[in-house]
Amino acid sequence: MAQDFPVQRTCPFAPPAEYAKLRDEAPVVRAKLPRGEAWLVTRWAEARQVLSSPAISTATTTPGSPKPLMSPDPPTPEMLEELAGQRHGVFIDMDPPEHTRYRKLLIPEFSYRRIKEMQPGMQATADRLIDDMLAQGTQADLVEAFALPLPSLVICQLLGVPYSEREFFQNSTRRLLTAPDEVGQMAAVGELREFLSGLVAEAERAPGDDLLGRLVTARAVPHEDMVGMMFLLLVAGHETTANMLPLSVLSLVRHPDQLRQLLDDPGLWPGAVEELLRFHSIVDWAGFDRAATQDIEIGGRKLGAGDGIFVLGASANHDERVFPDPDRFDIHREARPHVAFGYGIHQCLGQNLARAELEIALRTLFERIPGLRVDAPDEELSFKYSATVFGVDALPVSW
Ligand code: HEM
Repeated sequence: MAQDFPVQRTCPFAPPAEYAKLRDEAPVVRAKLPRGEAWLVTRWAEARQVLSSPAISTATTTPGSPKPLMSPDPPTPEMLEELAGQRHGVFIDMDPPEHTRYRKLLIPEFSYRRIKEMQPGMQATADRLIDDMLAQGTQADLVEAFALPLPSLVICQLLGVPYSEREFFQNSTRRLLTAPDEVGQMAAVGELREFLSGLVAEAERAPGDDLLGRLVTARAVPHEDMVGMMFLLLVAGHETTANMLPLSVLSLVRHPDQLRQLLDDPGLWPGAVEELLRFHSIVDWAGFDRAATQDIEIGGRKLGAGDGIFVLGASANHDERVFPDPDRFDIHREARPHVAFGYGIHQCLGQNLARAELEIALRTLFERIPGLRVDAPDEELSFKYSATVFGVDALPVSW
């Protein structure tokens, strides 16, 4: 029988309970969506197969793409028109060769050397936010004071947003993530796109030695596509990191023995960051909507061209075939083959930036405030159970 989908988490520290049963049953199972059906990929090996297969498309315009079936009402022609207008440059939703053309332009901006160059700036930002928290007393909401502004300011650094405009940028990105409804969210999207369009226009007038300056000098893509690419970097890099930070703090505070080891031996941080990414798997299926463009066999099931697929990222990252005792948080385990950043041609472009950002933010926070406490039991925290990217709305902390 087909599994009703989506299913929600009931515990903030584990994927939805149904996943273990589905994983046990088969690597590929049928699911009933709000409007139609699709395949769910439950295990790690098959997840990687799907995410790296040239017979499978990521574009929402491909026949069979399951994302549009997740809302109870079909999209109106106006909505489709608006979405088409916002597609320019958003290469996460494209297949080769279109995808390759855009991605290639940005690869040098995320090289090991570039990320290394960005580290002092990230460190200074983390330190300044912590200075502000400490100056304001002995308690704070870590989401508001640290997790939302930090990634926003790192993206300012990446895109070269001038200091005078960073407060506006930060407030707009906060509104994008915290808007209570679709109308508020659309307003924030409009505001940010307009801001980014101004930034691109400024770079076109006087290109600087930064990401935008280099791209406009290369004259590789038109203005509208540049705005879309910048918007993608912002959306992909902000919500993910902003949700990972407070969940990571919560996990580390709830495992004081492992936190103590990290404070004693900072060389353990890179492994801890991988485990935090695997353990929380905040993106789960939301980033992994696909459609088969040819007939293909996966996990013993024959899928036809036009079949919709969701890869369950959180299930793949908790597959006991690869990660023994998967629901246990263990900074010493070999977590690196996780698919929290995806796999294949769409694998997260910003992953090394994200790793550096998480490590700097968490290490600095716990080194500078070693007595950091979370001031509420898990039952009193408001987790984003129905959101597409998992997280926590607020995290009251004191020291
Ligand atoms: C903890 C933080 C992050 C997580 C968990 C994460 C996760 C992901 C995942 C799962 C994908 C693959 C989606 C797919 O297969 O369709 C992805 C793609 C992407 N991510 Fe990230 N991401 C993070 C941070 C960032 C940052 C900081 C940036 C840049 C500022 C970024 C930029 C991108 C871009 C541009 C893509 C699209 C790549 C492509 O389609 O070729 N991400 N991310």
